[in-house]
Amino acid sequence: MSGAKKPVVLDHPLVRHHLARLRDESTPCAEFRGAMRALSMLLAYEALRDLPARRVTVRTPLEPAAAARVRGRIGLVPILRAGLGMVDPILGLLPEAEVWHLGFYRDETTLQPVAYYNKFPARRPVDVALVLDPMLATGGSAIAALQAVHDWGVKRIKLLGVIAAPEGLRAVHKAFPNVEVLVCALDRKLNRHGYILPGLGDAGDRQFGTLAP
Ligand code: PRP
Ligand code: URA
Repeated sequence: MSGAKKPVVLDHPLVRHHLARLRDESTPCAEFRGAMRALSMLLAYEALRDLPARRVTVRTPLEPAAAARVRGRIGLVPILRAGLGMVDPILGLLPEAEVWHLGFYRDETTLQPVAYYNKFPARRPVDVALVLDPMLATGGSAIAALQAVHDWGVKRIKLLGVIAAPEGLRAVHKAFPNVEVLVCALDRKLNRHGYILPGLGDAGDRQFGTLAP
């Protein structure tokens, strides 16, 4: 991919519907995961519009039909933990995709990403990588993940998120202008603790039921 990419903010009634379920503080964990699944599929559908395909011929029970199959290796790169909830729904669309986990957590004092898991091999990068993280706040975690994917040698990288703050979007664009970013909503700003306003709170905790009682 070449040339600076404009961020894509999905504009669809289904996106707004499932976002409302995610944002609502009274949405229970299981329903929260369901809304995350729906939005992840919608994001992947949009992100993979330009996926390379090869022409094939298949036989229907009646006659041969011209068809197309996805070409190349696609890698899903969820940022732990919250990106995990985006993996299964996208694998449902693309079962052949590889999954390469990346562990980063954000130090809540410095707001800097701390790396704790990366098993990219030295060689053979995937052809297309989708970096998955529902929350783009300061952008620190996403930039660190994009750097790791770039260092692996991946040429085509897209970042899929659910909610972005303008601060995070700007930071990612500055660091990786050629990476296409797709989100479901662009929110107002960060609060002084680095949380997105209005946002949805802590995406990892809300998905996995680990909010402090
Ligand atoms: C959240 C979120 C992103 C990061 C975004 O993860 O899933 O990875 O914060 O913030 P940033 O844009 O300012 O880097 P968190 O650090 O809470 O880790 P967790 O998913 O393991 O709870
Ligand atoms: N991480 C989250 O889960 N939520 C935010 O609002 C910011 C960072």
